[in-house]
Amino acid sequence: VIKQVSTIREKMQSLRCSGKRIGFVPTMGALHEGHLQLLRASSRENDVTVCSIFVNPTQFNNPEDYKLYPRTSEQDIALLQSVNCDYLFLPDAQEVYTQQTLLQFSFGALEAVMEGEHRPGHFNGVATIVSKLFHYITPHRAYFGQKDLQQVAIVRQLVQALSFDLELVCYPTVREESGLAMSSRNERLNPEQREVAANLYKALQMAASMLPEKPIQSIKQEVADYLQSINQIELEYFEIADPATLQPVKDVKQDQEMALCIAAQVGPVRLIDNILVNLN
Ligand code: PAJ
Repeated sequence: VIKQVSTIREKMQSLRCSGKRIGFVPTMGALHEGHLQLLRASSRENDVTVCSIFVNPTQFNNPEDYKLYPRTSEQDIALLQSVNCDYLFLPDAQEVYTQQTLLQFSFGALEAVMEGEHRPGHFNGVATIVSKLFHYITPHRAYFGQKDLQQVAIVRQLVQALSFDLELVCYPTVREESGLAMSSRNERLNPEQREVAANLYKALQMAASMLPEKPIQSIKQEVADYLQSINQIELEYFEIADPATLQPVKDVKQDQEMALCIAAQVGPVRLIDNILVNLN
């Protein structure tokens, strides 16, 4: 477990010099099977695996969400040992943000929709921390989950625009048996709310099944109506988007891949999910 930026930098530099391939999984902790899948993949595909756990204050647009974000580092360390993770980078906020940063990123159309539109400043915070972490760790490969589809698109653009010399690897969403996408924030749901939250995935599946025949507007309406009928769910958005550009799809065409994306408040937490659909 390394807490200092200078220490992780030195360690990574010497590993790189000795020819080791470094795989990196950035996280905010409260680890679950979604994270562990990425860590196992990194262990398989690289000589050394580094995980970071840092609840990044600059990407939270809601102070309450930051305050109540689950922090379970002892349990996380045990899980990291179980998947043979080699290094955990676990810095304090002062270690990473030595002074206030005024740096502004812009991702154009990519961040004008969905999470970018509904969480102002969120992707600026993500881009800031991911850039810092990439500089500290200098990974050959960095692992992300499709659960945060828009984050992957943003980080891909960041890597390209700033010439980070690494390969971005994306793995599918891991779900509970109920279909609920695993998320650290699920820990803040009571058993009943957890059950209710599985309806987000149901709504996505329902929308996917309607895609071949119904127009997009009426699918959106049906999803909204369905979720409105459920207590404790408040839909924020449901979009059918092009998975590369994230722009809304207006008309469904054969052989076109689509990302069905949803965000909703369920009890005390805001959850997101998505599925990819290809009609052929
Ligand atoms: P966090 O939410 O902890 O997620 C860390 C990584 O795990 C992300 O790439 C996310 O997409 C992936 N992940 C989360 N739940 C998943 C699931 N159910 N299935 C598959 N992958 C899943 O995303 C962040 O942290 C932060 O924004 C971060 C990139 C660390 C920057 O602070």
